[in-house]
Amino acid sequence: MGHHMFKYNAEVTEMIFEYCRERLSMDPVPLDYGSLTPEPLASLDGLITSEGRSPAEVLGFFRDELAHAVVSIDAPNFLAFIPNAPTKNSLLFDMVVACSGLNGTSWLESAGVVVAENQALEFLADLAGLPASAGGAFVSGGSTGNLSGLTVGRDVGRARRPEIPAHTLRFAVSADAHSSIGKALHVLGVEALVVDADDHRFTLESLTRALASDPHPETVIGVIATAGTTNAGIVDDLEGLGAYAREHDLWFHVDGAYGGASLFSPTHRHLLGGIRHADSFVVDPHKWLFAPLDCAALLYRQPHVARKILAQQASYLDILHAGDDEEYEWNPSDFAIHLSRRARGLPFWYSLVTNGTHAYETAVQAAIDMAERTSAIIDELDHVEMVRPASLSVVLFRRPGWEEVDYVTWSHQLLRDQIAFVTPTKWEGETIARFAFLHPDTDETLVREVLETMR
Ligand SMILES: Cc1ncc(COP(=O)(O)O)c(C=O)c1O
Repeated sequence: MGHHMFKYNAEVTEMIFEYCRERLSMDPVPLDYGSLTPEPLASLDGLITSEGRSPAEVLGFFRDELAHAVVSIDAPNFLAFIPNAPTKNSLLFDMVVACSGLNGTSWLESAGVVVAENQALEFLADLAGLPASAGGAFVSGGSTGNLSGLTVGRDVGRARRPEIPAHTLRFAVSADAHSSIGKALHVLGVEALVVDADDHRFTLESLTRALASDPHPETVIGVIATAGTTNAGIVDDLEGLGAYAREHDLWFHVDGAYGGASLFSPTHRHLLGGIRHADSFVVDPHKWLFAPLDCAALLYRQPHVARKILAQQASYLDILHAGDDEEYEWNPSDFAIHLSRRARGLPFWYSLVTNGTHAYETAVQAAIDMAERTSAIIDELDHVEMVRPASLSVVLFRRPGWEEVDYVTWSHQLLRDQIAFVTPTKWEGETIARFAFLHPDTDETLVREVLETMR
């Protein structure tokens, strides 16, 4: 009885669980090789057949031929881009999500999931100083969060300025905003007023200067600030910009995809106080809040406004909106550009609830402290120097005398030697090196070892 693909197979289950158990027990997680794997990847040709293959054989192929051809983002020596270091409990709960038939789209299908995810969202909203009415949804990443939040901001701005041609409306933004902001504006057909920031920090002064010298300041409908720029970890003047935006009826969007997590930092959370003014705010648990990919929290000050703009309307979906208590019957699908949705907030929720908030504070703080210690080590050494003071958990430094090609060759060699994954970036046109700390187990010994390779 029943199709064989859907039958429980104890042997395959045990084999897969064993693989996961082995992976979860690695301490530390190996960095692996990424595309620099010394062996060419074995061919995938002919793997898909009409009869199928043995699960053990294909798992073995994955383990031996494919799994090392990645750079493991959760290794403590992954210091490039923005790393990701999921807690063990979040990874385990991701398996629970995978094995449960959860569609986190609607209240009707998954109220039990929605209330748990909303508990985590409410916790973040409260930490950010947003009003109790704030709410939203977990989305796939900062990029989707930014696009969704800015869609609402654009439509609210259009409604507020009906006399201004829609195609001329703009958001004020700094050049240091993440590339996904530019992409979102492109998708939305909204122009940017690119503000000349003060030493890469978007401040109220830089905004008012830009507006004063602009021929059409009335076309600006919103302000986009960053709580922790990706390249340098700089937190914009959230308080100044936010208060100004609210006073002038401008949408205030805060992209805290990376740095929003420092709301958990006892020493740095004060920098993020201005998020309380945000109309929309994004922070990614899949970055510095130790949840697995893919998970970003998108919060609105007034979620009912977002719902009006973003909820998908279709006759087959009418039943989702037929509840008599809209505030209570929450459809996560109503708050972003998505419909079907993995219950991707649950691994974060489980980890937060089981580990407790104090563990989050110490883990976030560890990365900030590591950045500060690294800065002191660099100051001690003769062959490297800081480019600018460490900000949040990002350190920008140079090896005087090196050109771009030297940094690239060094980065590849570090990975080949399995010491660390550190990639170069550019600062004011110069190629330099960058550490992005995140994993609380990254230590000073590793930092010194990496710096020694630059002599
Ligand atoms: C500040 C900021 N915003 C947005 C993003 C995009 O997030 P995602 O990669 O989750 O789409 C990033 C990614 O690093 C980021 O640092």
